[in-house]
Amino acid sequence: MKYLRAQLVRSLLAYFGADDRRIEHALLVWQHAERLMAKVPACDPEIVCASALLHDVGIKVSEERHGYNNGKTQEAYGPAAAERLLQAIGFPPAKIEIVKNIIGNHHSPSRYDYAELAVLKEADQIVNRADPD
Ligand SMILES: [Fe+2]
Repeated sequence: MKYLRAQLVRSLLAYFGADDRRIEHALLVWQHAERLMAKVPACDPEIVCASALLHDVGIKVSEERHGYNNGKTQEAYGPAAAERLLQAIGFPPAKIEIVKNIIGNHHSPSRYDYAELAVLKEADQIVNRADPD
């Protein structure tokens, strides 16, 4: 998709609004995912980009509904929230399904064999290790 990254960043900013902490985290994870992906030829760059930038969208839903978030609620609410954002920019439906599976599995043992899931998990761990907040 042309200008996919720009469209995803725009979606990310609109979604998280003034929540700079979430936006910064997503951008850092994307940065690491891009770097890691270079060593994994099986990765689809569009799936990596969408997964990295949108992987934590479930946090906002969880906090709105419950006043907290954890890995489990992120996985529960993230896929549907990401789906809405991806549909709005015309992301290919087959890839939306994969991104949803990745986001719904990024805090638990992998149920999927996607190279992109492994890259996202590693990128997220690197960023969370550096700044556990
Ligand atoms: Fe994250």
